[in-house]
Amino acid sequence: MASSSLALIFQGLCTALAGVVLVVIFLNIQFPYLLQDCKFCWTLFKVKQKRAVFRKRKPFYTVLDCFLNRVRTRPDKPLLVFEGREYSYQDCDKESNKIARALRKHGNLTQGDTVALFLGNEPRFVWMWLGLCKLGCAASLLNYNIRAKSLLHCFSCCGAKVLIVAEELKEAVEEVLPTLLEQKASVFILSKECNTAGLQTLVDKIEEASNEPISPELRSNVTMGSPAVYIYTSGTTGFPKAAVMTQERIWAGTFYLFINGASSEDVIYIPLPLYHAAGFVIGLHGAIQRGMTVVLRRKFSVSQFWDDCRKHNVTIIQYIGETMRYLCNTPKRESDKMHKVRMAIGNGLREEVWRSFQSRFGHIRIVEFYAASDSNIGFINYIGKIGAVGRENFYQKVSSTFILFFPHALIQFDAERGEPARDSNGLCIPMPQGETGLLVAKITTIAPFIEYARNPEQTEKKKIRDVFQKGDAYLNTGDLLRIDKDNFVYFQDRIGDTFRWKGENVATTEIEDVLTALDFIKDACVYGVKVPGTEGRAGMAAVTLKSGSEFDGTEAFSHIASYLPSYARPQFIRIQNSLEITGTFKQVKVKLVGEGFNLTIIKDPLYLHMDKDKCYKPMTMNYYNSIITGKMHI
Ligand SMILES: *[C@@H]1O[C@H](CO)[C@@H](O)[C@H](O)[C@H]1NC(C)=O
Ligand SMILES: *[C@@H]1O[C@H](CO)[C@@H](O)[C@H](O)[C@H]1NC(C)=O
Ligand SMILES: *[C@@H]1O[C@H](CO)[C@@H](O)[C@H](O)[C@H]1NC(C)=O
Ligand SMILES: *[C@@H]1O[C@H](CO)[C@@H](O)[C@H](O)[C@H]1NC(C)=O
Repeated sequence: MASSSLALIFQGLCTALAGVVLVVIFLNIQFPYLLQDCKFCWTLFKVKQKRAVFRKRKPFYTVLDCFLNRVRTRPDKPLLVFEGREYSYQDCDKESNKIARALRKHGNLTQGDTVALFLGNEPRFVWMWLGLCKLGCAASLLNYNIRAKSLLHCFSCCGAKVLIVAEELKEAVEEVLPTLLEQKASVFILSKECNTAGLQTLVDKIEEASNEPISPELRSNVTMGSPAVYIYTSGTTGFPKAAVMTQERIWAGTFYLFINGASSEDVIYIPLPLYHAAGFVIGLHGAIQRGMTVVLRRKFSVSQFWDDCRKHNVTIIQYIGETMRYLCNTPKRESDKMHKVRMAIGNGLREEVWRSFQSRFGHIRIVEFYAASDSNIGFINYIGKIGAVGRENFYQKVSSTFILFFPHALIQFDAERGEPARDSNGLCIPMPQGETGLLVAKITTIAPFIEYARNPEQTEKKKIRDVFQKGDAYLNTGDLLRIDKDNFVYFQDRIGDTFRWKGENVATTEIEDVLTALDFIKDACVYGVKVPGTEGRAGMAAVTLKSGSEFDGTEAFSHIASYLPSYARPQFIRIQNSLEITGTFKQVKVKLVGEGFNLTIIKDPLYLHMDKDKCYKPMTMNYYNSIITGKMHI
């Protein structure tokens, strides 16, 4: 009796087990990424809970408070490693106290003020920012490549009253100093001595200041909606626009590392500029949030990269597509796989580079993401699917209650007219799954569009209305994406008046303005062309000459070099008899883009940007072949 009932139970168990196995097999075939999706959603849920707790805390718990917590719990842990020196969490705290005191006294700062930082990657960049946080001030992170009018524009468009400049950028600031002083700006240079009238020294003042803690009273008004940093993105009207990152948005960005499983034991390598959100928010603040160590580099160096990683036991690296390609293009070394790097986080990695990177440098988990500082939507490729910038999962589609889960769609884009296609009711047309469309994301309270500082016109331009219903408003990302049947998201192209080159956004109109300032150029039309073996697009300017004028390649080179940062300089100039600036202009541009710099098609005179000769030289078949075969780098 007993044995037969045991047998029955056993049989039942076996059936149940077989059932479970079958269900698991079925789910695995039907939804191969179910487990990872669930895990990811669970992590996001935890992040959401954390943020809800932070949000409720009074006074508001800022990223600075998070940093100060780390200072209390692990004062001696290195936060920054830079050029052979280590700076602990406590060191950074003290340095930032000194800076805060010096700036409060000599810069007359109170909470709510904005200070522009014009310096490269170095520990002081981080201390400055922390010091400003302690005073309840916002920092405007200027791209140190900008000059002249662009610099003035970026300084004033965020309402900054103080400018802090690295010693090596003194000349760039002297050029615009009279205007700055006219605007009653205080300008500090990071040196002990300076003979230029109107430039105040700061290093001596910092050295004199005490490193005692700064009273939280001084930042008592900071809330999650307070502007924390201004980050610049290329604009369509010429000058860069300042995207306002609130305290809340910084918090959101800091969780990228957490979501992808970074722990306090990790060491992150940041060779990307801190004036971009990737390096500053995702890298630096992600590290502070986890209590990690940051190995900071002034600039990316292909020859030092792996040596740095080995020397500092780096476990996480931050990349853009270009840096990964440069690393893959170096001669193979025996030590290629000797390092502790386990994860690479970034964006813009092409499929072929992805494969060659992993086969060459060992199994490193690659986390591509899609995000922009002026956007309200992001994707993360947490599965590691080669070539995809992210993943849309069931959660994201169904629910919009959680952070990072935003209503969005790919809509049909009319390339000839350069705008979204509309149906007979004037509404946009969603693309079927698997086809390329323009990504738009609904503007909601949880996915707000962070406006551009003092630029209502550009803010409005970034919006698209009457998308699926009359009266609705979406953010136009300007990016063409494709989402495959497995819900992986692929970046296809960027539309409109910007393109990416060397990891920077380039605004075509800014270049056009610079070109037409040359006395022999009548009109200019700038666009990006694809070059085999490179990321993004290289700048091409189709220009017409004033009657009776000749193209002067040397003058064009020096004029462009003095007004545009290197990544924005057109690599090619194409001389045309006429440029149509009419209703069909967009179509003309489409045709020009299609022809690229293909010398077998283009019959117009074509010039090539030659750094070493400091001029634009006529393009030859020889140069052309060297470029397309990768022998010549542009
Ligand atoms: C300091 O700033 C306040 C307002 O922010 C202003 O009223 C005052 O005149 C300034 N003082 C100096 C010495 O610049
Ligand atoms: C802080 O906010 C209070 C109340 O809104 C205001 O009265 C005070 O002037 C603010 N302090 C500063 C320094 O902005
Ligand atoms: C890196 O790790 C090795 C072995 O674990 C250790 O001996 C070395 O001190 C570490 N280096 C640094 C800079 O932490
Ligand atoms: C250039 O144009 C020719 C003729 O249309 C075409 O065969 C060739 O593939 C093009 N080259 C490149 C690099 O696109």
